[in-house]
Amino acid sequence: MKNKSFVIAIDGPAGAGKSTIARLLAGKLGYVYIDSGAMYRSITWAAMRAGFSLQDDKKLVALAKKTKLCFKKHQRQVKLFMNGKAVTKAIRTPEVTANICYIADNPRIRQIMVKLQQRIGQHGGIVMEGRDIGTKVFPAAEFKFYLDASAQERARRRFLEFKDRGVKASLSDILKDIKIRDHKDKTRAVSPLKKARGSIVIDSSKMTPEQVVGKILEKIKAVDSSRQRRAGIERCAGS
Ligand code: C5P
Repeated sequence: MKNKSFVIAIDGPAGAGKSTIARLLAGKLGYVYIDSGAMYRSITWAAMRAGFSLQDDKKLVALAKKTKLCFKKHQRQVKLFMNGKAVTKAIRTPEVTANICYIADNPRIRQIMVKLQQRIGQHGGIVMEGRDIGTKVFPAAEFKFYLDASAQERARRRFLEFKDRGVKASLSDILKDIKIRDHKDKTRAVSPLKKARGSIVIDSSKMTPEQVVGKILEKIKAVDSSRQRRAGIERCAGS
């Protein structure tokens, strides 16, 4: 892809492999990988640390408004910095995950997050993943993907990931948690998780991350060249 200003939106349920795929894809394209879930996580983490109720709308909004979130390359990986502090690890605890719905369901917080995400991606050259990227944040993104996988497969992947990180959790508990999060993400009143109009759906249940990235690159190439043909930019002749 010669054009480096595209926005690639990837949405999908928890454990579908969005972050692995988005990171690999961004690396291949020389784009910046943005994990929008990390932004909701960091507000949840900061509110928990501050010790106020996660239902205190006023305090949450004030906190979100005064928070500076930066994605920066650090030791070859893109990390999230909250007011200058690296939070990538701290925001991935089960406690944060269990409380994130208070933040993700809050329409005023979502409004603030969406604005920040739009600002972060305004010049393109990004792969942003989350739940509402193709529907709300960048509905006009050049490329939109919806990454899915069966709940069992997603739970299996999470289980292996936790094992790797030394986090103890049973497969059945993880599956239960995934189903609860699916339900919450798909049924919330504001910006529920759904397939964006025009998005390409990929079921990764039986695919490796490399195969998924390969398929996405194939689709991008196909869509890009058909657009160029339609725009009359590309002129071809012969068989
Ligand atoms: O992607 P991750 O699992 O880290 O996201 C954590 C939670 O943040 C999700 O379960 C979802 O509730 C919320 N989220 C969201 N909108 C996004 C990204 C994440 O509501 N764009």
